[in-house]
Amino acid sequence: MNKIDPWGTELIEDYARLIKDFGLEPMEDFLSDFPKPNYLMRRGIVFAGQDLKQIADAIKEKKPFYCLTGMMPSSERIHFGTKTVIEMVKYFQEQKAKTFVLIADLESAATRGISLKEARERALNFYIPAYIALGLDPKKTIFYFQSENDQVKNLAYLFSQKITMNEFKAIYGEIHPSRILSALAQAGDILFPQLEEKMPGVIPVGIDQSPHIRLTRDIVRRTKSEFNFFLPSATYHKFVPALDGSNKMSKSNPNSFISIPENPIDSGKKMSKALTGGRNTIEEQKKLGGIPEKCMVFEMYKQHLIEDDKKLQKIFDDCKKGKLLCKEDKENAVNLMILFQQDFQKKLDKAKKTRKQWKFFK
Ligand code: TRP
Repeated sequence: MNKIDPWGTELIEDYARLIKDFGLEPMEDFLSDFPKPNYLMRRGIVFAGQDLKQIADAIKEKKPFYCLTGMMPSSERIHFGTKTVIEMVKYFQEQKAKTFVLIADLESAATRGISLKEARERALNFYIPAYIALGLDPKKTIFYFQSENDQVKNLAYLFSQKITMNEFKAIYGEIHPSRILSALAQAGDILFPQLEEKMPGVIPVGIDQSPHIRLTRDIVRRTKSEFNFFLPSATYHKFVPALDGSNKMSKSNPNSFISIPENPIDSGKKMSKALTGGRNTIEEQKKLGGIPEKCMVFEMYKQHLIEDDKKLQKIFDDCKKGKLLCKEDKENAVNLMILFQQDFQKKLDKAKKTRKQWKFFK
């Protein structure tokens, strides 16, 4: 049985198994239900979800629904997984979801010792503009700080009565009080929009967050008579693998993760050192072709750098045929990464200037 720890660093290898073990819905079964699935959905990077039908139906029938996600403001940069989350929020926002993005300042205080003041500054100076730079519409997104949302906090207290210590242990393993508080606050986050308007909601997150979704769904079942909440839907994306191909984030070296933002030249250098699916010699590769399935450069294209399916396919085919060799391909990858970082920095600077438009819920 798989175990997922939202505070851990394990990467998962077998996603099909995970879908089975946790009773998730494979995204590929729902591609025809969603209008214009984005590249992450089409490519199975967002590989699974829960209760996807109710969201697809709301979109089709033009009924109200919401999309909500949140992040801890725990460093000065974000990683590529966050970009994936934001792109999913953007997708639902374009499908007319009422959009909430929260700053998990209570969680980062409880689990990482970051003061509320520090969290606030980071959110205003970096996180919120970064989300806008990655595609959120500042005029259509409602931001909030957990610490300033009384409804979220009140729900967390109420929910604490609905769950036993053994259930916490069954979902999370051994759990510290700070994490119990954080998990209950997160359930409050996920459900509070329904206090004002009864509607389904979708929570785009990394698969590491699935225990929180499970907890929240249990709480919904147990508070049926009081609240009658819709069960939250979710989309789950795969972990971003390390550039050296290793599967354990904690053990891999810092050079095998690129952050956003990062000095463009440095990020390009990291790309140039990534593990590829190349053969031992050029002759061999020309004859047998490369192995893009094992190539971290290709993985970065697929997950982040190339949205155009045809372009991606051509690289895949040319690599397989031994026509495109690693050296040339890496030059392309380095350029794409440099361009991405430069473009992000430009958009970030621009987004910072939209501050007057940001809407906060209190
Ligand atoms: N636990 C999330 C993280 O580690 C942050 C978070 C808090 C969140 N509340 C949420 C995510 C609600 C999705 C929905 O980053």
